[in-house]
Amino acid sequence: METRFLLNGEPQVADTGATTTLLDWLREEKRLTGTKEGCNEGDCGACTVMVTDPDGTARALNACILFLPQLDGRAVRTVEGIAGPDGALHPVQQAMIDHHGSQCGFCTPGFVVSMAVAHLNGRQDHDDQLAGNLCRCTGYAPIIRAAEAAVGAPVPDWMRADAKALADPGFIFPQIRTSGGVPPACPTTADELAEWYEAHPDATLIAGATDVGLWVTKGLRDLSPVAFLNQCADLRGIVADDETIHIGAMTSVAELGAFISDRHPSLAELIRRYGSVQVRNAATIGGNIANGSPIGDSPPALIALGASLHLRKGAARRVMALEDFFLDYGKQDREPGEFVEAVSIPVQPDRLACYKLSKRFDQDISAVCGAFSITVTEGKVATARIAFGGMAGTPKRASHVEAALVGQPWNEATIRTAQGEFERDFMPLSDMRASASYRLRAAQGMLMRYFLETQGAAANVLEVRI
Ligand SMILES: Cc1cc2nc3c(=O)[nH]c(=O)nc-3n(C[C@H](O)[C@H](O)[C@H](O)COP(=O)(O)OP(=O)(O)OC[C@H]3O[C@@H](n4cnc5c(N)ncnc54)[C@H](O)[C@@H]3O)c2cc1C
Ligand code: FES
Ligand code: FES
Repeated sequence: METRFLLNGEPQVADTGATTTLLDWLREEKRLTGTKEGCNEGDCGACTVMVTDPDGTARALNACILFLPQLDGRAVRTVEGIAGPDGALHPVQQAMIDHHGSQCGFCTPGFVVSMAVAHLNGRQDHDDQLAGNLCRCTGYAPIIRAAEAAVGAPVPDWMRADAKALADPGFIFPQIRTSGGVPPACPTTADELAEWYEAHPDATLIAGATDVGLWVTKGLRDLSPVAFLNQCADLRGIVADDETIHIGAMTSVAELGAFISDRHPSLAELIRRYGSVQVRNAATIGGNIANGSPIGDSPPALIALGASLHLRKGAARRVMALEDFFLDYGKQDREPGEFVEAVSIPVQPDRLACYKLSKRFDQDISAVCGAFSITVTEGKVATARIAFGGMAGTPKRASHVEAALVGQPWNEATIRTAQGEFERDFMPLSDMRASASYRLRAAQGMLMRYFLETQGAAANVLEVRI
């Protein structure tokens, strides 16, 4: 199929299979070998490219799990396009030289692209911005010093050229698709998707491809037929009124994190530890729910917030409590041809706390992820919503623990009693991430931590004091 986009400022029409990755196309078709293949599964950042959306937003993404059709109407800048057209170095490139930020150099193009995008977006949280880029030999201190050194330098003109060009789509893409001519696998509205998917219920939907990408690069699977959801503008974005926050299925995890930080800061902090910048920029909330993973990070938090899931098949829509969607391991309450349209959460005072335990702080999947939202009125527990990932075959509420809390005084004795109920709610597995007994103890500890935090005790794991 044909994909039209800008590559380092030049219009391209790539005629490829639907699941050809940008990384393969760059290296094999265009011989742009600056973009490296390290892991081929989104973990190392060696393949980082800058993608500019039609609205001018520039994002760092992993080219290894990015399919060509996801780029239609967008602009890609590889490391070859980060230096100026006359060969002038980008300030982050010069800073990497000045601060000895490169040894073998394999990771360097990916770092340079991530740094250049962060520099363009005015980001100075360098540790977070670079958490998705791995370096095996230089060490991170010189790289972070280089990122810091480049902060004050002006953004070079060529870094803004893609956004300017895309603002004039008629000039760049004279044959841009209209809804009448849309190929069936690239719907531009939820209505088109609903009609197409009902007629092709066995198809694979592709949202951000941070799961599906690996089915191709690691599983070597043929996914046809596929539908790309990224052009469905009405599936993307967050709308809030006085009562409800409505989150479109194609809203990226990064977008949710930015939106929610004022309302539920603990969820934003959880999202900061979700994959990496590159993964959060691609991964969608719809994908994180629909994949049914027992260790997805957003479902426990959304369940604790009382989220509802909005499903659609053809013209028919239904709404359910999010926890009811997850029936069993690998089994969700979703019919063939039915898709996630949105998730919504009631507006509420913030009492949410999310705790993610993983072997590594950054870029790691949870061993246990607990989310708590408990209301206390006149010293007694009025409501309790507690949900966990990593404790069962699905994201699941701790309903016995909740029942042991509601109506009881909010004190340590109540917490200790409720801790005993975890074994009635969960029979966790032992696997490479954690043993069953560790998981149970950790979940019990999280409840105590939540209680202690409401009593003013500091329990920030980022601060270790002797
Ligand atoms: C390096 C790396 C790190 C990661 N770290 C984390 C992490 O820390 N926490 C975490 O929770 N996850 C993590 N993930 C997993 C992944 O990012 C998430 O599961 C992600 O949210 C999936 O969303 P997506 O848009 O990429 O989905 P896709 O890969 O496009 O799709 C996933 C599944 O959902 C289906 N689907 C997608 N959208 C819809 C829809 N609207 N309706 C119905 N079905 C749909 C697809 O058909 C597919 O079955 C990581 C992945 C990678 C590669
Ligand atoms: S090659 Fe490692 S993230 Fe793409
Ligand atoms: S310089 Fe060798 S991996 Fe980073």
